[in-house]
Amino acid sequence: MTGPFFGVERLTKRFGGLTAVNEVSFTLAREEIVGLIGPNGAGKTTLLRLITKILKPDSGRIVFNGEEITALRPWEVVERGIAGTFQNMRPFRHLPIIANVMVPLVAPRGRRRGEWVKSVEAKAMDALEFVGISDMALEPASALSQGDLKRLEVARAIATEPELLLLDEPLGGLNPAESELLAKSIRRLHKGGRFGRLHSEGPAVLMIEHKLKELMSIVDRVIVVDYGEIIADGSPAEVVKNPKVIEAYLGSSHEAPGGSEHAVA
Ligand SMILES: Nc1ncnc2c1ncn2[C@@H]1O[C@H](COP(=O)(O)OP(=O)(O)O)[C@@H](O)[C@H]1O
Ligand SMILES: [Mg+2]
Repeated sequence: MTGPFFGVERLTKRFGGLTAVNEVSFTLAREEIVGLIGPNGAGKTTLLRLITKILKPDSGRIVFNGEEITALRPWEVVERGIAGTFQNMRPFRHLPIIANVMVPLVAPRGRRRGEWVKSVEAKAMDALEFVGISDMALEPASALSQGDLKRLEVARAIATEPELLLLDEPLGGLNPAESELLAKSIRRLHKGGRFGRLHSEGPAVLMIEHKLKELMSIVDRVIVVDYGEIIADGSPAEVVKNPKVIEAYLGSSHEAPGGSEHAVA
């Protein structure tokens, strides 16, 4: 394989006159778990949506496992082994929760069509167990609270057994104890912990999270964006001391990364 495990090169997305993501370049290694932070409106969610192909970039390239994936469709990206959660998930409200997790596994063109229902149901159940809502598997998704919807999102992504897992504020809506638990589970998943029939090899993780205390305790590296550009990239300890990062957070009237766990990412 030539090139990085995953990389974006000069990725740019404009919304009218606003450049939400401005010539962003970075690479990830297969064994990395990385946080993506920055003030509100910095372009974090847009960046993840470009990678999962929900949005098309205006320019730039995305490469994964030696292949350029810039022009692929969303399901093709999932097939390649990238799964993401979205900031505002809309589940199939009238389908049971477990069916929501099964959907990406049995969708047309999904990987591994041969294994079908049994293994798919088992994997979906294991994914629900991973996030802690397996007891609700047969209830309609409309029964879920905001925090539980987040967990459903995470379950849906990990059930596809991705090589690269993209998470957009997975701890949103969870209380501190739940946040810590899920954060630790994400770390364990990354490290290759098995979850029942999910024979995860431990995906690389790129995770947006505004709960910085939880985030910093599970990532090895943090990328900081502000106004659509990367302003810092380093270890959690380096990044919280970086003057540019402190200024970005102070300037946005939110708390600095060293501060409260409710600082805005
Ligand atoms: N679909 C869209 N149409 C127009 N503007 C958008 C759209 N999505 C995001 N934006 C704008 O792009 C900027 C970056 O947004 P976003 O990526 O959601 O930031 P973050 O996730 O870092 O808070 C913001 O100014 C936001 O208002
Ligand atoms: Mg966002």
